This record gives sequence, structure tokens and C-alpha cells, in this order.
Amino acid sequence: MCGIVGYIGNKGATHILIKSLKRLEYRGYDSSGIAILNKKLKIVKAKGKIINLEEKLKKENLNGNLGIAHTRWATHGEPSDINSHPHTSNNGLFTIVHNGILENYKEIKNNLQKEGYNFLSDTDTEVISNFIEYQYEKTKDLLESISKFLKEGKGSFSLGILFENENTIYTVKKQSPLVIGIGTNENFISSDISATLEYTKNYYILEEEEIGIVKKDNIQIFDKNKNEIKKDIYVVDFDVSAAEKNGFDHFMLKEIYEQPTAIRNTINPRVINDEIDLKIDIDAKEINKIHVVACGSAAHAGIVFKNIVESLARIPTEVYLASEFRYQNPILEENDLILVISQSGETADTLAALRHGKTNGVKTLSIVNVLGSSIARESDLNLFTWAGPEIAVATTKAYSAQISLLYLLGIKFAFQRKKITKETEKLLVGEILTIPEKIENILKISENQIKELSKKYKNNKSIFFIGRGLDYAAVLEGSLKLKEISYIHSEAYAAGELKHGTISLIEDRTLVISCITQKHIFEKTMSNLQEVKARGAESIIITNEEAYIKEINVDVDKSNLLIIPKINDYFTPSLTAIYMQLFSYYISRELGSDIDMPRNLAKSVTVE
Ligand code: AGP
Repeated sequence: MCGIVGYIGNKGATHILIKSLKRLEYRGYDSSGIAILNKKLKIVKAKGKIINLEEKLKKENLNGNLGIAHTRWATHGEPSDINSHPHTSNNGLFTIVHNGILENYKEIKNNLQKEGYNFLSDTDTEVISNFIEYQYEKTKDLLESISKFLKEGKGSFSLGILFENENTIYTVKKQSPLVIGIGTNENFISSDISATLEYTKNYYILEEEEIGIVKKDNIQIFDKNKNEIKKDIYVVDFDVSAAEKNGFDHFMLKEIYEQPTAIRNTINPRVINDEIDLKIDIDAKEINKIHVVACGSAAHAGIVFKNIVESLARIPTEVYLASEFRYQNPILEENDLILVISQSGETADTLAALRHGKTNGVKTLSIVNVLGSSIARESDLNLFTWAGPEIAVATTKAYSAQISLLYLLGIKFAFQRKKITKETEKLLVGEILTIPEKIENILKISENQIKELSKKYKNNKSIFFIGRGLDYAAVLEGSLKLKEISYIHSEAYAAGELKHGTISLIEDRTLVISCITQKHIFEKTMSNLQEVKARGAESIIITNEEAYIKEINVDVDKSNLLIIPKINDYFTPSLTAIYMQLFSYYISRELGSDIDMPRNLAKSVTVE
């Protein structure tokens, strides 16, 4: 949450910073701001999206080759010009952009107030700039002052710091991500690689509690005790076009269409002659229990995995929302496995859960999309999804890549525990390999039908999703997708559970979207569908051809039937997801909501 960038070099910093900041807008868009140091410091801030800042900049003369900028997801203080970053210290020595939360800001603020410091904003960031200034006034040693802050500050803080007397960017990383982009006679800092990929492919990825001193032709990195550290350069192997819209109206639509490629990239390198090779050292025979920890869609991917691994490998598996995990005192034992799922690899709750597991001596395996992210670096084992950069706040291709990889993991575990034969493994893997092509077919045939359905149901105030088993896991994701971008109230229910309370909300013309693909419970879900229809509900049914032809005899308009290609029941979530993503996308388009940057949300949730 929040995005920070910094530039130092020979070029105009304002243009580069704004361009880079726009690539970070997915991290928060409540307000933004920029500071340029050109002998004197100039700051411009604006409430709302970066476009508002650009408008303001048209009237300002902000020239210089050194600057920092910020896009905010508000934590302390409402989104406003005054609470926007950068924040300058009382005597004007330090100007700071911050990503994260300073947890003990009140205590530090009180102490500083006693020393005569005043605060203009409600933010924790202004506390940091003043703390560093206070320390600097005492020691005249900036590295010492920053190191002191690292030792006293609690919480998460990636910082970009300008010091009024120096052509340098100081930077700090604690819990929130921070990379230093290495150029020729120019260098960058940013919250993530995609922000500055247009300018460089070479990066230093800061580890916990490291400090960077970035000049135009030199970079030094120190630990919190001021010892200099030598780091390897990380060279990025994807192109800037991966982070651009390429003719699509929204990143979300582009990413929906990228799913076949993303899934191929995830699974093909791990399948050799229809056999799975995950290239990680793990033996499921030694695992007693799996604890999946994740948030949002990643947790939904975890529920898909639970269904598969329990059914095929018979390993007891529990899925926890990462924000709950530590506080429910989970029973963790020596031979357990903590499976962490995260697109960004930076989600604060998920990272904290991973650390909790490690502290308790449990082996950790992560499914992560972003290479070099904190979760990837800290877990014992990693499986990368290789879905490419995902920009839209609503995840699509990362979720699809996650579940594809989790299918492989579940099957691998089942084989290792001798619950399935080599032949069954090959058969199932053969089915997984057909997923990308089947998604391509859905994308080819469904758009017009979905557009019509979106028009038809755009004014519904509430939309329910129902399913059983793997279909329930799938509709949890479908419902989240719909509510996060369309702002239509939505709930996903296990189809059999509706009658225990929620069915009271069903009235004439309430839309119920039913996912009905699992043969062994097909008739049960059909009965639940009949129950809501009997109470006046309208219905969209997502089902598979075979089942549809044989079984469906409810009264439903053909245009409300969404048929997935034939596939083994274990893998239907990969196909039903596409219809639900498209429906969410097009209904949100009809309603005019801001699809890639929905209100109140951010892509990377780095606060707990
Ligand atoms: C999904 O569309 C979300 N925006 C959100 O639920 C997301 O999946 C969640 O915040 C977890 O993020 P992560 O995968 O980066 O950890």
C-alpha cells in the first residue's frame, strides 16, 4: 500500500517520477505528491488520483534532476492535500515519502512535541521526518540518525528521504518493499520493479532493515548498524510491455485475456512427459498436516487446493485467513507444512503468518508471483507462478496461475503418498494441460453473451453465488471479484447452507449465480437452485456441457446458461472463473466504476 519512487540523475526528474508513479498507482490512489530538490526544495501535492497532481504541476515550475514522489493509500488521516506525502521536518532539513505504518508514532510524536516539534498533518510520516531531523540536529550524522530510527521505529516503513544539503536519496526498507534501480549516471528507488522498468533492468532488492544511500553515480547499502553490505544485482527478465495495457481498455481485461499464457508459463516448465517435476525438495510422506495461509483471492485458491489435496492425497489441510492465523493460536507440529499463497509476496498479514510459522519451527512453502518479494525471500521453499506482472487490483491471471500450480502440487503429493498411480498422475496432468486452450475457447465465444447478461442485471442491488465443494471454492472468488469492482453487494454461499438463514434474503428477481459442475453433488445443488427459484430468484447457471445436456431441467433462459468445455471435475474452477471474471468486468463497465483501481482498495496490502 502506497507507492514511492525517487530519481537522481541528469534528466528532468518530474517527468520520470510522474511516469513511474503512475505504474505504482495500483498500490493506492487517495492522494499523491512530489518533491524536487534543485538547490531549493519544491513540493506539490494533490488529493485524489495522480491525474490531479499532473493538473497542478501544469501551473508549477518544477525543474530539477533529483526528487521523490508518492501515491497514497490513507492510513493515518483522511485523504487530503495536507496529509499527502512528501512530509517535511519542522526545520526543513528532511523531506520524506513513506510506505507502511509507524506503529509507535504516538509515543515518538509525544516525545518530539516535548522537544518543541509541531505537526501539521495527522500522518505517522511527519513523525518520521521530525524524528530524523531531531537526531540529526544532535549528531550531525545522517546515517546514524536513520539507523537510530530503524532501531526505535516499530511497524513497517519503506522510506525515500531527501536531505536539503545533499544531492542524494536516502532510503530505508522495513517490512514494506523497496528496490533500487541501477542506471548509468542515474539511479532510482521504487516500491516495485515495474515502476522503473522502462529505465533499467538492474536492481538491488533491499532486505529487512537495510539503508541505501543513492547518488547519481554511486550506491551504497548498509545494515541498521551502519556496516556496509555488498549485494548481488538482480536482473529482471521481463519487458516493460508486460506492465502496459497494450490496446485493452483496462489492465483487468488484458489480464483476463493473458490467462492462457500465464497458465502455460506456470505449468509447462513443470510438466515433463506428463509427469510433474516441481524442482523442490519436499516429500509429502513426511507431512502430517498442511496449513494454508493467505488473504482474499489467494485464500480462495487455498480452498481449491484443500479440496484437491484432501481428496487425492488424503492430507488434512486447513485454510486460514492470514489475518486470523496468529491470533487463533494454531496447533503447529513438527511435521506440518505451512503453505503460503500470495500474488504480491508482500501482503503484511500473510508475511506475518509465514514468520509465525517459522518461529514455531514449521517448514514453509510459498506460492508467489513476484520474484524477490519478502514472502519469497523468507520462506524455506518457493514455487513461483510466473504469471507476469499483474496490475489490476482485482486479481485474475495470478489466481488462475495459483490454482494451476496448486493442482500440480496436490497431484504430486498424492503420488508421493502412493494414493494415486503414475497412470492417474499422467491422466490428470494431461487434463491440466488442456486448460489454457479451453480458456481460449471460452474467451472466444462468451463475450457477447456476458455483455448482454451484464446489461440485464446491472441494476441488481444484490447478487448471490452458490455452489458445493469445488464449485463453492470457485464462487467465493466469483463473488469477491464482483463486489470489489462493481460495488454491488454480493455473497457466496455453500448451496446447501442457504436454507439455514440466508435464503430469507432471496426475493422476487434476486439474481443467484449457480456453479454446478461437480457430478457427485450435481443433483444436490440443482435442488438448492430450485429452492431459490421457487422464491422468485432469477438464475444464471455455470455448468458443464455433459451435465447440462443430461441433467438440467429447470426452467432457465438459454442465454442465462454459461457452459464450460468438458474437463475433469477437479479442474473446473479454472474454467468457471473465466465467466465470473468477465461478468464482474462487464457489469462494472456498465456501471462506470473504476475497474483497475476500485475505491478503498490497493493491490498490495502491506498493512495489517
Ligand atoms: C483480489 O482480487 C484482491 N484484490 C485481494 O483479495 C488479494 O487477492 C489479496 O489482497 C491477497 O493479495 P496477495 O495475493 O498479493 O497476497
